[in-house]
Amino acid sequence: MIVKSLEHLNKISKKISQKLENGDCIFLIGEIGVGKTTLTRHLINNMQSQKGLKRTEVLSPTFNLLYEYEIEDLKIMHYDLYRIKKPKELIHLGIFSENEKTIKIVEWPDLIKTPLTNKLEIHLEYGKNDNERKMKIYGLGKWKDFENEI
Ligand SMILES: Nc1ncnc2c1ncn2[C@@H]1O[C@H](COP(=O)(O)OP(=O)(O)OP(=O)(O)O)[C@@H](O)[C@H]1O
Ligand SMILES: [Mg+2]
Repeated sequence: MIVKSLEHLNKISKKISQKLENGDCIFLIGEIGVGKTTLTRHLINNMQSQKGLKRTEVLSPTFNLLYEYEIEDLKIMHYDLYRIKKPKELIHLGIFSENEKTIKIVEWPDLIKTPLTNKLEIHLEYGKNDNERKMKIYGLGKWKDFENEI
């Protein structure tokens, strides 16, 4: 599908955030600067608004690898694995080693091979215009037919 603008991205993100629960995983795939962190920011801010909470800053975890957010009973782990080059480093990070149920949003997830039950994979590409993006969605488990809902 075509994402026409940031406003359109926000509309899509609302549909995703309404369905997000602990245990879900979102993989964000696409080139540098295409909008992975921007989409994450919309997702987190919309979840905060849906719970009647104040929207917080959502920064890129490029250097920290991980930022965590708690939204009432929801716990969100936002990863940026761009700097991780070896699967071994992933093991050290322990990203899927714990059984704890959290929402994981992962930029640059290429090295992750762990099979996941409820996974939404979002691919972003640049579009014809500045604020336009192409989006492809692949869902597993509860996200299987989500593509038809947006
Ligand atoms: N429709 C759109 N969807 C997403 N981002 C958009 C869109 N239109 C414009 N932008 C802009 O594109 C930029 C995307 O930057 P962002 O940091 O989100 O990219 P990123 O994919 O996370 O990059 P990186 O790989 O470096 O982490 C932002 O400045 C955002 O405002
Ligand atoms: Mg980013």
